[in-house]
Amino acid sequence: MEKSAKKPVVMSGIRPTGILHLGSYFGALQNYVRMQNEYECYFMVADLHSLTTHPDTKSLRSNVLHVISEYLACGLDPDKAALYCQSAVHETSELYLYLNTLAYKGELEKTTTFKDKARLQPQNINAALLTYPSLMAADILLHRALYVPVGKDQEQHLEMARNFASRFNHRYGEIFPEPVAFNFGQELVKVPSLDGTGKMSKSENQNATLYLSDDDDLIQKKIMKAKTDEGPKAPHSPMPNYIENIFQLLALTSTRDVYEKFESGYNNCTIRYGDLKKQLAEDMIRFITPIREKAQDIRNNETYMKEVMEKGAAKAAESAKRTMQLTREAIGIKYF
Ligand code: TRP
Repeated sequence: MEKSAKKPVVMSGIRPTGILHLGSYFGALQNYVRMQNEYECYFMVADLHSLTTHPDTKSLRSNVLHVISEYLACGLDPDKAALYCQSAVHETSELYLYLNTLAYKGELEKTTTFKDKARLQPQNINAALLTYPSLMAADILLHRALYVPVGKDQEQHLEMARNFASRFNHRYGEIFPEPVAFNFGQELVKVPSLDGTGKMSKSENQNATLYLSDDDDLIQKKIMKAKTDEGPKAPHSPMPNYIENIFQLLALTSTRDVYEKFESGYNNCTIRYGDLKKQLAEDMIRFITPIREKAQDIRNNETYMKEVMEKGAAKAAESAKRTMQLTREAIGIKYF
């Protein structure tokens, strides 16, 4: 490879509509940390997107700072990856407008997330909610990113980003690569909620979600409340889904020995769910505590937080400016 060969660009974002949890860690952050060593990475906090569903901005600042501090506490390095806030890079809004001229009302209205959110907030079906996919495409195309680490729920948005990129390229000239989902060639880890219903979530189902900022007592309480039953009645019974979920969580943070001990306890019907949950709580506390403490220390250092966010924004703006110059020229918005 040539010495100057550019690394492929990776871009992703998390909406600050709540705080990060175990699912964010295993589904996203853990992969980001690996990617920062091999790619040119842009990891962003999507505060503009959050305005489409959360117009009340009382907790916006605190959520944004939480996400950034947790990015850092989980191992993202501001000297490697650009860590920034979407609103700090104004070019995003400009590209959003150009992409909106290529996005059709029909396809936007058919987007699954739009239909879901419109159902949830019938009194606030605003134009930015409808054009959520164009804004997300702007985030990605702004850095001409090729790889976008996201979960299944974002696949449709990503497909739309590819369509907008290809329409732009056809109409005005080849500027944008078509971005694809990317998860380091592994299956995405799913982190089930503690009550057997769905996944852990930033804003819903808070008692069944373990947040990276939960204290030891709270982690213990949430886990001890997880649903169980009297135990298997016959050897090698199939696991009910709420028990399987506890085992899945155990697999994330406990040792193999511990996991196998409880698994064979289940299979020979000697398992005590109280012990299982105590063990899970202990291992989760051991996992979450250092992240929580580190993130808190980082947040306490406001000067450092500001420095990180400025540095990330400057790096992202530099890449954005290059793309926007090409974009304006391609469109013909350059008169002298
Ligand atoms: N829409 C994403 C979500 O809800 C967040 C997001 C915004 C994003 N912009 C992005 C993800 C760009 C990847 C790339 O989770």
